Amino acid sequence: MLNPGTLHRGSKLAVASHNEGKVRELGELFAPYGIACVSAGSLGLAEPEETGESFEANALIKARAAAQSARLLAIADDSGLEVEALGGQPGVQSARWGGPGRDFDLAMARVYDELSATGGAYTRANFTCALALAAPSGEEIVTTGRVYGKIVWPPRGSRGFGYDPIFVPDGYRETFGEMDPALKNRLSHRMRAFEKLIAATYSNDE
Ligand code: IMP
Repeated sequence: MLNPGTLHRGSKLAVASHNEGKVRELGELFAPYGIACVSAGSLGLAEPEETGESFEANALIKARAAAQSARLLAIADDSGLEVEALGGQPGVQSARWGGPGRDFDLAMARVYDELSATGGAYTRANFTCALALAAPSGEEIVTTGRVYGKIVWPPRGSRGFGYDPIFVPDGYRETFGEMDPALKNRLSHRMRAFEKLIAATYSNDE
C-alpha cells in the first residue's frame, strides 16, 4: 500500500501507456502538483499483455511491469467505454474494438451498429478509468473513476481521442470530442480516479 508522501513536488513518474491521448491527459493532471511524467515510449518500455478481466486488474498489470523495468514509480491507466444496453461492452475491450490499427471510426461505428440492433432508444453509457500507481518495491494502489452520459450519432468533434466524439456527459450538450480539453479534464473519469489517487498518495510537505 502506498501512502501520502509517496508522491510530492519533484516526483518523476513513468507513464505505462503508449496511447498518446492518455499520456497527454495524465501529464496535464500531474503537472500542477509538480510531478513530471515520462512516457513509456521514451523509456523504451514494452507493452505487457492486458490479460485482466477488469480495468483495475489491467491497470495494475501495466503499472507493475513499468515500475519493474524503469525502476521508477509508474502510473498506468486502464479505461474504456461501457454502454449499458450492450451489457457494459466494449468495456475492457474498448481499445480492441478499434482493430489492429486502433481505428476509432471503426470502433464508434461498431458501437452505433450494435446499439441500433438493440433498438437504439436506450443510449446510457459511462467512461470508466482505473489508475494504478506501482513502486519498484512492489507496493501499489489502484483507484477508479466514472463519468456518466449518453451515446450520440453521428460522431462530433475532433478534440480528445478514442470514443470522445460519440459521448455526451450528463449536464452538457457537447461531446467530449467538441469540448474544451480543460473542461473534459475537470469532468472526466480520469480526473475522478486521479483525485482519489492524489488524496491517497500525495503530500506537499517537503
Ligand atoms: P486501454 O489502453 O486498454 O485502457 O484502452 C482504453 C480505450 O478506451 C482507449 O483506446 C479509448 O478507445 C477508450 N477510452 C479511454 N478513455 C477514453 C477517453 O477519455 N475518451 C475516449 N475514449 C477513451
